[in-house]
Amino acid sequence: MSRTSLTRFLVEEQQAGRITADLRQLIAIVARACNLISITVGKGALGGVLGDAGTGNIQGEAQKKLDVISNDILLEANAWGGHLAACASEEMDHSTPMPAEYPHGDFLLLFDPLDGSSNIDVNVSVGTIFSVLRKPAGVEIPGDADFLQPGTAQVAAGYAVYGPQTTLVLTVGHGTHAFTLDRESGTFLMTQRGMQIPEDTKEFAINMSNQRHWEPAMQSYVEHLLAGETGPRGKNFNMRWIASMVADVHRILTRGGIFIYPWDKKDPSKPGKLRLMYEANPMGFLVEQAGGAATNGRERILEIEPTALHQRVPVFLGSKNEVAEATRYHRNAD
Ligand code: AHG
Ligand code: MN
Ligand code: MN
Ligand code: MN
Repeated sequence: MSRTSLTRFLVEEQQAGRITADLRQLIAIVARACNLISITVGKGALGGVLGDAGTGNIQGEAQKKLDVISNDILLEANAWGGHLAACASEEMDHSTPMPAEYPHGDFLLLFDPLDGSSNIDVNVSVGTIFSVLRKPAGVEIPGDADFLQPGTAQVAAGYAVYGPQTTLVLTVGHGTHAFTLDRESGTFLMTQRGMQIPEDTKEFAINMSNQRHWEPAMQSYVEHLLAGETGPRGKNFNMRWIASMVADVHRILTRGGIFIYPWDKKDPSKPGKLRLMYEANPMGFLVEQAGGAATNGRERILEIEPTALHQRVPVFLGSKNEVAEATRYHRNAD
């Protein structure tokens, strides 16, 4: 049985009128960049790509070499492809302007070029997350403010997870689909069409080391959870925390679960660790398209009106009944 390639899938989506030729081209460019990032990540110490870059980003994080290398690979791929998008990234303070000498593309591409940086040097799965918005009508050269659109405005979102396989998971608003990289040919081949997240789960992804810093509603939800008291999960449940969002979300899209990174008072100025525009929104879109749910504990993530390019948000996503229960705890506490 010959598998559908990503290229063929995208042509079919274009023929069905779900994406334009330019959006097809942009997604193909991002996929090619992810292939190149996968090769670079795979070199590890042999490629001199491990360890710190000696620089910092606007998040106040020390940048890993691979954070910077992956960011450059995505920017170069967008340039080679004719600047179809202006770009914003976890690793850049501001978005990139579209060069005057190019025809000005219609899209805004946001990305977390290397997600799970703390895992790079210990050979644990990492990934790339991306989100595509339309450039607002009437705007020639978009600036940061033009990126501040809610997650419902996304026209595409996806991630690549660099694990035992390199798998690209993508939605263009009609289901969530997985494509695994055939390294010999450099082709992404469809391995799952229409991923579906089970509505209930017994598997929880929470970094429990922050427990003493959570708000009371989260404390009480987890107490309830650890007691195995209610819900279909019964007494037996599992905890899994990989500390690479892409790997945790990929497990949830594959077999269900709930991923929670709640608000904590370690740094009250930050309403959570994860970034809305290039982590929570794209993952929320993928999860909803697979029958799951994504909230900030009180409201749907995709409906949050952004106020800043790098703003953070608490994240509850995955099996929809579990997300609903955790969200109920927080809403009832208000
Ligand atoms: P990034 O490496 O892009 O900065 O993202 C890391 C994020 C996310 O991937 C993961 O779920 C979370 O940080 C892990 O946080 P802790 O290290 O606090 O567990
Ligand atoms: Mn990340
Ligand atoms: Mn990152
Ligand atoms: Mn980071």
